[in-house]
Amino acid sequence: MTLRRVNVVILVLLVIAFVIILHRNLLNLTDFLKQDNPDSAPGIILPFETDFLSTRKVVRSGEEIPVLITAPEERLGAAVSAMNSIYHNSKANIIFNIVTLNESLLHLKTWLSKTDLKHRIIAFDPNILTGKISKDPQKPDAVRPLSFARFYLPIFLPDAEKAIYLDDDVIVQGDIRELFDTTLKSGHAAAFSEDCDSASSKGFIRGAGNQNSYMGFLDFKKEAVKKLGMRANTCSFNPGVFVANLTEWKQQNVTGQLESWMELNVKEDLYSKNLADSIITPPMLIVFYKHHSNIDPMWNVRHLGTTGAGNRYSPHFVKLAKLLHWNGHYKPWGRASSYSDIWDKWYIPDPTGKFQPIRRHAEDQ
Ligand SMILES: *[C@@H]1O[C@H](CO)[C@@H](O)[C@H](O)[C@H]1NC(C)=O
Ligand SMILES: *[C@@H]1O[C@H](CO)[C@@H](O)[C@H](O)[C@H]1NC(C)=O
Ligand SMILES: *[C@@H]1O[C@H](CO)[C@@H](O)[C@H](O)[C@H]1NC(C)=O
Repeated sequence: MTLRRVNVVILVLLVIAFVIILHRNLLNLTDFLKQDNPDSAPGIILPFETDFLSTRKVVRSGEEIPVLITAPEERLGAAVSAMNSIYHNSKANIIFNIVTLNESLLHLKTWLSKTDLKHRIIAFDPNILTGKISKDPQKPDAVRPLSFARFYLPIFLPDAEKAIYLDDDVIVQGDIRELFDTTLKSGHAAAFSEDCDSASSKGFIRGAGNQNSYMGFLDFKKEAVKKLGMRANTCSFNPGVFVANLTEWKQQNVTGQLESWMELNVKEDLYSKNLADSIITPPMLIVFYKHHSNIDPMWNVRHLGTTGAGNRYSPHFVKLAKLLHWNGHYKPWGRASSYSDIWDKWYIPDPTGKFQPIRRHAEDQ
């Protein structure tokens, strides 16, 4: 009899324990469901959203990381998105130095006043390029003066020892401090990503020209180029993302060297005829020939703006990239670009309404 009673008591206790455990688990589950973002699909975690929230509260102090970016009027939204992506993926004390033309100063100021990006706006005087670029309006250098701003880095950043230059058609997914910490070899004024040993060159479309080597950018039949004794098949590099030692830059008079090659090109037409829109590349290739350091190729995953770019990289690789670069014709704020959904995440709408990314739904209206 007593044994049976004990059994019943044990059974009752087990049932109670079971009910308590079940209840607790149900509570946890409802808590979990409540925390989940109602807009997101179940089971999908959006990592950038939590980053976004946590970096909002970041107190940015310590060593300043100067980043220089240009902002032509017709693509101000590009620079804004690039900067926003950099800011929210880092806790570093980043200061953006935005070089723009006089006509855009007010527009940019209005736009950035709606953000928490720490910045300086610098007006570029195109007169600095007089005699150094072609006057022929058919040639690209005549129409995009801001592309040359990177040649004048120490003038725009007189107090910086080290700085980063970025094209505006990029989105950064890594911590910019990592790029800034790139070690430059002694005597080197800059570090770039090379075109042949980089991750980006894998699966490079054949027939796209010899844009992996010096011969794709310079006319090796010209005397001035021949005299340099450079090998035409030397791997080129992409000047759209670089880290610079401005002390070295000034000591070596890199700006002066670049300017004299520009002037000589106006007179002797030294650049390759197949040069697409990379007008600033040839003088940089000459000045930094075998005299530059390298950045991690994941910090310049490029060619996203070329035809067929959507098939070049796996989604996994794109996610791992520290920096995505839409060099080429198809920009992520324009029509028919690949991976524009990634760019859209970082876009801050223009309060003046002048800049509008071109999107399918907008076309339909
Ligand atoms: C910009 O505009 C101001 C005022 O209109 C003018 O004084 C200045 O010279 C201009 N600067 C450049 C670089 O064109
Ligand atoms: C930059 O170059 C100067 C001169 O060679 C050198 O003393 C300095 O350590 C370098 N700075 C950095 C951050 O690499
Ligand atoms: C820098 O180079 C340019 C072009 O070669 C030259 O005219 C200028 O005098 C140089 N400046 C210095 C400070 O060496």
